[in-house]
Amino acid sequence: MMCRAALKAARRLLRDFGEVEQLQVSQKGPKDFVSNADRQAERTIRQELEKARPDFGFLMEESGEIIGKDKSQRWIIDPLDGTMNFLHGMPYFCISIAHEKDGEIIAGVVYDPVRDEMFCAEKGAGAYVNEHRLRVSARSKLQDALVCTGASPSYRKQLIEDILRNFENEVSALRWNGAAALDLCYLAAGRLDAYCAFGLAPWDMAAGLIIIKEAGGYITNAYGEKLTLDSPTVVASNPYLHESLVHLTSSLIKR
Ligand code: IPD
Ligand code: CA
Ligand code: CA
Repeated sequence: MMCRAALKAARRLLRDFGEVEQLQVSQKGPKDFVSNADRQAERTIRQELEKARPDFGFLMEESGEIIGKDKSQRWIIDPLDGTMNFLHGMPYFCISIAHEKDGEIIAGVVYDPVRDEMFCAEKGAGAYVNEHRLRVSARSKLQDALVCTGASPSYRKQLIEDILRNFENEVSALRWNGAAALDLCYLAAGRLDAYCAFGLAPWDMAAGLIIIKEAGGYITNAYGEKLTLDSPTVVASNPYLHESLVHLTSSLIKR
């Protein structure tokens, strides 16, 4: 049902993405157009999920929180993650939907409409991209690792220099891809070896969290502690790199 909701919203999002390039040259610019696409996608996802589970609550990036009749279960939704990429015609963005029960994420779906890649996981049932089982990479040296990072505007100024300075000589290469939910899935797929981001919101990380765990990866806060959805920092990697990664990130962010 999460996949169906994501696919339905994606059809329109993809059409809108096709139009965004034309809009780049218009006077008003594409910003309003994109925030409309964003809100429309969220409406579609909400309607689909509400049809299937009328009692569940919601936590959505655009419309905020809705408490359901069933207070133990809710959907956590980012209808368009990677907005800035979308706005610039960069084909790296996704839809992210997670199912939370009793405060724990038990299922997640992240859909990349451009590549038609549906990442999904259920607690205890493994993680998949389309029909293929996901597994984190096996690289064991930070020196060989492809590391992705990201930060929200409030963290950016303070951290950008620190991240570059601290990571540059420690890893093979750094990336800043701009769609946190999709980055987490790339880590689960072994396309990235490590990920650290600062200032993420619950809807950026909720689905990715279960997808990474089910793909055999580790995901914590910057100090290596259990990740909660209100944690401002996220550090994820394969099991071999996690300790050295946390060593770097914990020195970047002072408590
Ligand atoms: C943003 C992206 C970005 C991350 C930011 C998020 P949005 O989400 O995931 O990669 O660094 O912190 O806010 O605004 O594109 O949904
Ligand atoms: Ca987001
Ligand atoms: Ca968003």
